[in-house]
Amino acid sequence: MHKVNELLQQMLSQGVYVVGVVDGSETNAFTAAWVMQVSFAPVLLAISINPEHHSYRLLKKGGVCSVNVLSQQQMLLAEHFGRSGLEDKMAQGTWTATVTGAPVLQESLAYFDCKVRHEVAAGDHQLVICEVIDARQLNAGSPMLYSDTGTMDNSAEFYE
Ligand SMILES: Cc1cc2nc3c(=O)[nH]c(=O)nc-3n(C[C@H](O)[C@H](O)[C@H](O)COP(=O)(O)O)c2cc1C
Repeated sequence: MHKVNELLQQMLSQGVYVVGVVDGSETNAFTAAWVMQVSFAPVLLAISINPEHHSYRLLKKGGVCSVNVLSQQQMLLAEHFGRSGLEDKMAQGTWTATVTGAPVLQESLAYFDCKVRHEVAAGDHQLVICEVIDARQLNAGSPMLYSDTGTMDNSAEFYE
């Protein structure tokens, strides 16, 4: 299965995003590569999230999120938001609130402000389908590719 793992990361083109979530006064964010557009009208994105992530609880309760596009120079941000259980995870980066109330990362190339519409179980993840309510470009640059993140997500250990 090791080869499948490598081929998935190297050949199935994906970007790298920081997904911001909020429930009441609590905000959080996590790095995600499994994000894709799945509808034109309405504009829908699907985010595949491990239901054990702290962010999943906030996403479920808050019902909104922002998808923040990382640039190729932002490996440290990808790494930081790829960790869980940090004392003050949101101290990294400059965060403001979007139209939906989701936290948006000002250093990102662009963001998509979303409302959760529904979710579908997908193996060990939940596929959360979100409607894009607003979108803005914030900075210039080229989007980061998942294939450039190497072993950052420790995904090899999840393959049987
Ligand atoms: C490059 C990269 C891509 C990732 N992609 C996803 C993803 O698509 N879905 C997911 O649930 N977790 C993904 N992760 C893992 C989460 O970012 C990580 O488990 C994070 O610690 C969850 O944070 P939280 O527990 O604070 O919510 C990825 C991590 C990295 C480094």
